[in-house]
Amino acid sequence: MEAELRSLLEEARVAFSGADTVEAVEALRVSFLGKKGKVSVLLRQMGKLSAEERPVVGKIANEVRDELRALVEVGLEHAEARARARDLSERLDVTQPGRRARSGHAHPLMRTMREIVSVLSELGFVVATGPEVEHDFYNFEALNFPPDHPARDMQDTFFIEEGVVLRTHTSPIQIRAMLEMGEPPVRVVAPGAVYRCDQDATHAPMFFQVEGFFVDEGVTFGDLKGTLSFFLQRLFGADVRLRLRPSFFPFTEPSAEVDMSCFACSAGEGREACRLCKGTGWIEILGAGMIDPNVLEAVSIDPERYTGFAFGIGVDRVAMLRYAIDDIRLLTENDTRFLAQF
Ligand code: FA5
Repeated sequence: MEAELRSLLEEARVAFSGADTVEAVEALRVSFLGKKGKVSVLLRQMGKLSAEERPVVGKIANEVRDELRALVEVGLEHAEARARARDLSERLDVTQPGRRARSGHAHPLMRTMREIVSVLSELGFVVATGPEVEHDFYNFEALNFPPDHPARDMQDTFFIEEGVVLRTHTSPIQIRAMLEMGEPPVRVVAPGAVYRCDQDATHAPMFFQVEGFFVDEGVTFGDLKGTLSFFLQRLFGADVRLRLRPSFFPFTEPSAEVDMSCFACSAGEGREACRLCKGTGWIEILGAGMIDPNVLEAVSIDPERYTGFAFGIGVDRVAMLRYAIDDIRLLTENDTRFLAQF
């Protein structure tokens, strides 16, 4: 009987190894371990054994039963795993194109700012930055805004404490960079956030500017115009022309407002209805001028020997023009439906 039990186990091992569905494993379990299964049938003959043989065969019978139960358990696990894999491969069509992961991208303002900086870098301008919380000295005084001078009202200022402001423009970086770099030539592009107490569709309390300036011997107003033409044509297209109108900034003399020809109605077609230039054919784009000798003196650069030009451009305005955005506030609302368009 011992031999029969062992051959039964051998038979079971072979049978279970071929059972690859839950139903097949279940059928084998019944046929070996069920009430009328092969083991029970065999053990019914135990009565015929001698008193000495009975405990020996009983022990072997228990071992065989344990192993059969283990075969059932492992068989079920494998069959279930196989069923899951089959199920998946039926549902998963590997010939279908995959679902593309959505990736983010640079904010339109940052993209515009990087482009401006990159064009000026090509001309040899090196990047400099400065703090957004700034001393009155750098933001105003060294830039030739005397204390209590009405020119300060041009830029509605957020004050932090006496003598400390949120910078109202990137021009204080002119002072910091010239002090740091010392003897000219100094050719710098300075991007950054600036703050003014301003708010409507075209004015934000926080916006971005890029400052550009170049100081060396023999720098002229012609160099300024040439630099700006190259730069604006790279940003807006080769047909763009410039117009300089007299203006005033305390830190430049002479100063100019720079307009560029409207790229939306450049051929003059539909000019009356053009929303971009309001029918004038010109778009105001930046402020510029020759650096005032007083500013050079404030940073110990000899104005008799050196001259320089400077300009400051509003990045938000450039982005609005390029992407036809009519309200500046959209740029900082963080609405992904808006941002995803760029
Ligand atoms: C200045 O800030 C000067 N520092 C620019 C300059 C630099 C002149 C160097 C000469 C030499 P202005 O205040 O005009 O100038 O501002 C420059 C640009 O910033 C504007 O043309 C406009 O595009 C943008 N800007 C001004 N105020 C706001 C605002 N509240 N929101 C968005 N953009 C603004």
